[in-house]
Amino acid sequence: MLQGKNKLTINYTASIPFDQRLYRQDIKGSIAHASMLAKQGIITESDAKAIIKGLNSIREEIEQGKFPFSTELEDIHMNIEARLFEKIGDVAGKLHTARSRNDQVTLDMRLFLKEEIPKTIDTIKALQSSLVELAEVNKEVIMPGYTHLQQAQPVLLAHHLLAYFEMFQRDKERFSDCLKRTDVLPLGSGALAGVAYPVDRQFLAQELGFSEISNNSIDAVSDRDFVVEFQAAAALTMMHISRLAEEIVLWSSSEFGFIEIGKDFTTGSSIMPQKKNPDVAELARGKTGRIYGNLMSIITTMKGLPLAYNRDMQEDKQGLFDTLDTLHSTLEIFAEMLKTIKVNTRRVREAIKDYILATDLADYLVKKGMPFREAYSVVAKLSEYAINKGKNFRELSLKEYDKFSPLFTEDVYNITLESSIAARNVIGGTSPQQVEQALKKARESI
Ligand code: ARG
Repeated sequence: MLQGKNKLTINYTASIPFDQRLYRQDIKGSIAHASMLAKQGIITESDAKAIIKGLNSIREEIEQGKFPFSTELEDIHMNIEARLFEKIGDVAGKLHTARSRNDQVTLDMRLFLKEEIPKTIDTIKALQSSLVELAEVNKEVIMPGYTHLQQAQPVLLAHHLLAYFEMFQRDKERFSDCLKRTDVLPLGSGALAGVAYPVDRQFLAQELGFSEISNNSIDAVSDRDFVVEFQAAAALTMMHISRLAEEIVLWSSSEFGFIEIGKDFTTGSSIMPQKKNPDVAELARGKTGRIYGNLMSIITTMKGLPLAYNRDMQEDKQGLFDTLDTLHSTLEIFAEMLKTIKVNTRRVREAIKDYILATDLADYLVKKGMPFREAYSVVAKLSEYAINKGKNFRELSLKEYDKFSPLFTEDVYNITLESSIAARNVIGGTSPQQVEQALKKARESI
């Protein structure tokens, strides 16, 4: 609470410009608290009634945009309390019995995240379902699989896309896990030591829908790991989106030409009429940097703080809100943008270099009894020879093959892109049969 009236201090310390976003959670927490105080005989039923009625009308005021937010009143908690005095008089002063802004603010934050995390998980799901859709439509397409951005082995495009599905699957798990540790009631911890009133924390947990109650009042008011965890999970999800974004940028370039993004999700250039820029993907990649920054910010803010509450912790909010909004809008637009992506099957096929089947040639020799390391070196020499001759594997004669190993016979020409992917029929592999299974599993899980 402000003692002096220095304008600089008032503005510097106020959190109301951003924490007003917590008004609903703040009011919800206060209503539960007032009911509990009355149930325990700490305040009278009629006082609680007046307080609850006042709080409900404040919520309406805020929602109608009529609430007089004041920077002088510092934060959302004080703004609402001061307004309650104006509405119901001195009885408003009883609401803050057995409570401190320290347990109140962390309660609000936990309530807020408890509402948002399920939305996060749902938006990830929507993105996953667009990925599955895109994979499904292009189920037959074989593309060059890369390592070091060099063509390595052929894979199904669907297999490549489902790799992202798996990443997002783990991201959802991380958010659910973070939700478990967010779902703990801090109210009743007071400023730091607990409160000197016979409060019923079980009742509060039930009223507010918390599964657990905090074990230690000092920890409860000073812990922000649940915010850090959310930020970390968000940073990882953005990292995954950013990798996908990078591939979208690459694949939509004229050099690759693998995909075309719907025109609603690209922009033109002001001077180059031919351009169709993948700005959405680029911005997602760019925003990922800011989300990492928000994670760095909160873990750095927390690292040197002595127990328990310190005002530094007010800095937890802007980064969290920013991350949440950025993450949700990114997931949302990606889910929509993916629906508009058209795969240029011909370009994808033409991009595949014949030498991508080198591993298959080595595997061929292995099946004929040669140790893998030897087969590897035979095919390395064979590839070098073919490249020098400007021929691909299919264009080499059997006589030429024979110079490298007598194990090569007519059936070497049976090695194709199709045979290559079909051969990788292990669980998690790229064979059409495995990918079909994976698609089915993916569809079922979302
Ligand atoms: N605006 C503060 C915050 O966001 C609320 C808690 C203030 N508590 C205090 N003892 N000054 O952290």
